[in-house]
Amino acid sequence: MINNKNETNTHIQISPLSRPRRLRVSPWIRNMVSEHRVTVNDLIWPVFIQEGNNLRTPIASMPGVDRLSIDLLTLAVKEARDLGIPAIALFPATPANLKTQDGEEAFNPENLVCRTIRAIKSAVPDIGIICDVALDPYTSHGQDGLVRNGVVVNDETVEVLCKQSVVQARAGCDVIAPSDMMDGRVGAIRKALDNAGFSHVAILSYAAKYASAFYGPFRDAVGSANNLGKSDKKTYQMDPSNSSEALREVALDIAEGADMVMVKPGMPYLDVVARVKDAFKVPTFAYQVSGEYAMLCAAAANGWLDREKVILESLLSFKRAGADGVLTYFAVEAAKLLKTQ
Ligand code: PBG
Repeated sequence: MINNKNETNTHIQISPLSRPRRLRVSPWIRNMVSEHRVTVNDLIWPVFIQEGNNLRTPIASMPGVDRLSIDLLTLAVKEARDLGIPAIALFPATPANLKTQDGEEAFNPENLVCRTIRAIKSAVPDIGIICDVALDPYTSHGQDGLVRNGVVVNDETVEVLCKQSVVQARAGCDVIAPSDMMDGRVGAIRKALDNAGFSHVAILSYAAKYASAFYGPFRDAVGSANNLGKSDKKTYQMDPSNSSEALREVALDIAEGADMVMVKPGMPYLDVVARVKDAFKVPTFAYQVSGEYAMLCAAAANGWLDREKVILESLLSFKRAGADGVLTYFAVEAAKLLKTQ
């Protein structure tokens, strides 16, 4: 019989063989048996860029996240590097006058993203740069692809995505991350990169990207919400009701040459993260998207949730599901929190 010495007065005698609480009795043993940990190496920091100098524009729906001009972004990226964050993901807010029906600015070697890549590569060469590939920051209609007769066309879009990828690789980007969900784009981009001499540039494909309402604040941040208006992206992004389809999408992207895959959004799709990691064992990332960030911030600001605790617990949930890393707007804050733990 096992008697807890604090409970000697009890008349009820419980004596199960296995008492899981034995392993929770104090911090040292909890640490010793803990299965998953978030470290700074798991954090990829998505950032928003704008034109100008010494400019910082708060994004109302993402409190604490600002669009930064290149000079300020470079300083912020230095801080991220000093904290040990391995990589950033760049998202440009393209000036409205440069947005066009066909998004040609996407493959302008002097566009905001390319200038940012060069600036960061020269000032902070030891942080990884991941670049989104999709046309939505550049199109006047806000869609990720070319629109012909009201339809987002696939193959013609893929040709443009290849040009965008090569231009970004030439500027010095380390990882190309196609987020557009066109069919066949990973294979085409791989070929285009190789032909242009960028066989060392990796592809992190947004393989299972859902048509989600959780992207709302991001579209405010890059200024595509108004362009998109009442339209949606359901003809190319995945239906939230599907999960086996995510496995087919991932299989295709791996076969086409994706080095790493991503599931997006994150927390509402942890089941998909787990299935993907189980099935393919490839480096798998999850994107804790803008809406997830906004939700946690709003609840914390109201005093309804403990901000620091839910940040770390939410990141841990990705690791538990099997993710190798997380794209998160909390990256810098989380890196600081992890230091004090
Ligand atoms: C662009 C893109 C989006 C996000 C990342 N890349 C938005 C969209 O597909 O509409 C969303 C990121 C976020 O919400 O944090 N294709």
